[in-house]
Amino acid sequence: GDGYELVVVANRLPVDVTLGEDGEPSWTRSPGGLVTALSPVMAKADGAWVGWGGSPDLALDPFDVDGTRLVPVALSADDVATFYEGFSNDTLWPLYHDVIAPPAFHRNWWDSYVTVNRRFAAAAAEQAAPGATVWVQDYQLQLVPAMLREQRPDLRIGYFHHIPFPPLEIFAQLPWRRQVVDGLLGADLIGFQRAGDASNFVRVVRRYTDLPTRGQVITVPRPGAVDRQVRASAFPISIDSGAFDELARTPEVQQRAREIRHDLGDPKVLLLGVDRLDYTKGIIHRIKAFGEVLEDGTLDPQDVRLVQVASPSRENVEAYQQLRDEVELLVGRINGDHGAVGHTPIQYLHQSFPMAEMAALYLAADVMLVTALRDGMNLVAKEYVAARNDERGTLVLSEFTGAADELAGAVLINPHDIDGLKDAIVRAATMEPRQARTRMRRLRRRVLEHDVTAWSEQFLGALQAEPAAPGRAL
Ligand code: G6P
Repeated sequence: GDGYELVVVANRLPVDVTLGEDGEPSWTRSPGGLVTALSPVMAKADGAWVGWGGSPDLALDPFDVDGTRLVPVALSADDVATFYEGFSNDTLWPLYHDVIAPPAFHRNWWDSYVTVNRRFAAAAAEQAAPGATVWVQDYQLQLVPAMLREQRPDLRIGYFHHIPFPPLEIFAQLPWRRQVVDGLLGADLIGFQRAGDASNFVRVVRRYTDLPTRGQVITVPRPGAVDRQVRASAFPISIDSGAFDELARTPEVQQRAREIRHDLGDPKVLLLGVDRLDYTKGIIHRIKAFGEVLEDGTLDPQDVRLVQVASPSRENVEAYQQLRDEVELLVGRINGDHGAVGHTPIQYLHQSFPMAEMAALYLAADVMLVTALRDGMNLVAKEYVAARNDERGTLVLSEFTGAADELAGAVLINPHDIDGLKDAIVRAATMEPRQARTRMRRLRRRVLEHDVTAWSEQFLGALQAEPAAPGRAL
């Protein structure tokens, strides 16, 4: 046909594609918050999703999954090493997360970032109907908005940044800071998780361009046409809360939750951590604090268990390999010190699980530990709340997550403060059921009302409300 009215462009497709021995493609759901949030949005829209299938050197034709048109963009093994593992995940990721790990700056990685962004922009330009809306996602594709506008000035272009946008003083380190700002300013609307991210961005624009700004609105002149207004604003992302709530009500999931507790020896208190194995998630801080609580004897090792799900992530990037070693050393040490025959205090699972198993784990856990050192939003916190339709369970939540801006019913912590974290773990583990219920009700009200459909409607609604893009002459 003439193309799609809504085109999402993201580094990843919602599925990871692999070719079988017979040359037939098969797929599994791909990891991370972006896919978790956008899949239900796209299932409802008649749109196309442009992205990478997750394996190197895989050239595939467009195909349909659950009513969404998936348009694969191929990355060579070298693109994966330089654009994805390199510039996206060894430069931008640590830089944008408060330099928790040191970002590496390599000029050939930047060149690859430019080349690959151009490829995504071209693929999106090809799929979009005249005057369509293109919604670009996340830090891997910050140059796409401007590249797309150059080819297709008729489009309405939105960009959403799923991770933190750093303070000016940190962003300033990036040798290509000006090009990144110009890339983003190709959008009509730039969405961030928190108000603080949007104001960080506007400060960066003021510092590195001469463009006039008024509040969150930036004016970009166009030769021979009316000025463009670009708005930067917060749109906190969410999950399909209703679907999670419903899943957690099914007899299968409830039975599985009881089974999990039983298999763990029916502990008095079950603590849970669920993360991609990423150094931003504060997994070491959490496990360290738990180990000290056992060491101090504040909680009896016989009474408590910690289940830590750490899904494999970016395994070719060195910082992730180091983290894995550190986590596994620490888990082994604590289990060695405080375990007994038939009983290990920490169940460590370096695996990914389907949604139903996650819902059962959430239902089984008395305390959910989200201790990220920096996180754009953290959807695991929201999934835990959505699953707890029994209004039980306590969420311990890092103040350095976007979710902390919204989830006032959580026990908020600073993960760098190990003593404070230990106190919070004990407090959550021993909380009066009535108090826990009051807090959970408050959390549930927010998460169920503000679901991912509300998020996408707010973003796309605001994008439609922007003065039309079509390069109208004065
Ligand atoms: C975060 C990012 C996403 C990314 C996901 C998984 O949620 O915001 O853009 O897709 O992590 O990471 P990966 O590198 O496996 O795509």
